[in-house]
Amino acid sequence: MAQEDVFKKIVSHCKEYGFVFPSSEIYDGLGAVYDYGQNGVELKNNIKQYWWQSMVLLHENIVGIDSAIFMHPTIWKASGHVDAFNDPLIDNRDSKKRYRADVLIEDQIAKYDDKIAKEVAKAAKKYGDAFNEEEFRSTNARVLEHQRKRDALHERYSRAMNAGPDLNELRQIILDEEIVCPISGTKNWTEVRQFNLMFSTEMGSTADGAMKVYLRPETAQGIFVNYLNVQKTGRMKIPFGIAQIGKAFRNEIVARQFIFRMREFEQMEMQFFVKPGTELEWFKQWKETRLRWHKALGFGDDHYRYHDHEKLAHYANAATDIEFLMPFGFKEVEGIHSRTNFDLSQHEKFSGKNIKYFDPETNESYTPYVIETSIGVDRMFLSIMCGSYHEEKLENGETRVVLKLPAALAPVKLAVMPLVKKDGLPEKAREIIDALKFHFNCQYDEKDSIGKRYRRQDAIGTPYCVTVDHDTLTDNCVTLRNRDTMQQERVPISELDSIIADRVSITSLLKTL
Ligand code: GAP
Repeated sequence: MAQEDVFKKIVSHCKEYGFVFPSSEIYDGLGAVYDYGQNGVELKNNIKQYWWQSMVLLHENIVGIDSAIFMHPTIWKASGHVDAFNDPLIDNRDSKKRYRADVLIEDQIAKYDDKIAKEVAKAAKKYGDAFNEEEFRSTNARVLEHQRKRDALHERYSRAMNAGPDLNELRQIILDEEIVCPISGTKNWTEVRQFNLMFSTEMGSTADGAMKVYLRPETAQGIFVNYLNVQKTGRMKIPFGIAQIGKAFRNEIVARQFIFRMREFEQMEMQFFVKPGTELEWFKQWKETRLRWHKALGFGDDHYRYHDHEKLAHYANAATDIEFLMPFGFKEVEGIHSRTNFDLSQHEKFSGKNIKYFDPETNESYTPYVIETSIGVDRMFLSIMCGSYHEEKLENGETRVVLKLPAALAPVKLAVMPLVKKDGLPEKAREIIDALKFHFNCQYDEKDSIGKRYRRQDAIGTPYCVTVDHDTLTDNCVTLRNRDTMQQERVPISELDSIIADRVSITSLLKTL
């Protein structure tokens, strides 16, 4: 199945099984805004818990905060977001559609890559085992011509982006490459303009002189402006970290790929404050710690890679992304940045307050350097859905759709099913749920055949199903079915709690880190 089709299936699965709904659906939706359903919210909460506990429980020197979404507007001037958090936009005069100029050009580069890939695939089919891809790529005239055009475009585009960006040059590239609007099919383009991604609103009534405030585009600034409050009240000593989970808002123009790029999303960010000069050692350490956290979910090491940034923001001295293999390629899920003392120095300058750290060991004051780990909850959610979605052919010829979610993150841990709706089996099943519901999210299901009920639980990723049968009434044992292997074992009801707790708890997952 083409990866594009797999992705479409994952998106519709998310809706059909109560994970993610388009926002305001009965009003035809709201672009790039989504709601999480009954299963989605449980999965999302479990992701947040896994992250929070790995930061705050497992590190004595990391504490959490929850800062407000509204912040003093000067914060966003100091952070650079008011002046530089922009996308270059271009409109098509015929369709009236708005595009990101950089994305139009990147799509054009991808078209050259596709042409090359098609030539290679065609030749591989023609020559079979005798095909030498390397030789073909370096000698085939059509491939070489596509590659030449692609490299020239890439070079010109990089130069334009690095020059501010140079908006006139971006437009000229679009014209020279004869890029057309996908809706109108015309090249009737406007000038390229910079567009700020922050949403703004007004605080206070207009008569009083309302103040323009922003919906935060990242949670990090709430940590920076509180770092000294936390350090002093928590008697924290450098190195220490502050973690936060919260909503962020960006007026993304090209919102694509479902919950990958949203206008309202959630971030889990941790700023780690260190002594200047030690930051690159800490950067290396956090890079490794964070990749370990991802890999512990068990999707396979080949699903992850680092993307080290070659071009760094002027305030950063190292940066990398952790990318996950989605059906549409390796994509950034988390960023790890060594941000020097840029943010704290800017806040010191703009607020006029001394926010230096006093080091009791050396008796000196300094502005700490910061390592940031920043991950999107929704993007993590999407990567987990993509890694977990499987269609399997069964021995009896049927196909089952199963979400092989990491057990600790699954929305429902245990489904309890009476074999039949009579003979006291439903009552026994309820008794089991009543005993276990304090520890796990359990679901009761008595409708349809056992096979259909298993399929329903497979589709939402429930790791275990318990079947109560007539023997249960006398031997107090149940059948425990494993989602992934479909193996069944007979276990005493009295042992269910400990057997399952061990296999599905976040604590067990954290112990593997
Ligand atoms: N404080 C640093 C910061 O915000 P970022 O690379 O802009 O860095 C960090 O964002 C993470 O937030 C990304 O790796 C991604 O997971 C998530 N993210 C950013 N923009 C997003 C969007 N529009 N929709 C969903 N997630 C987003």
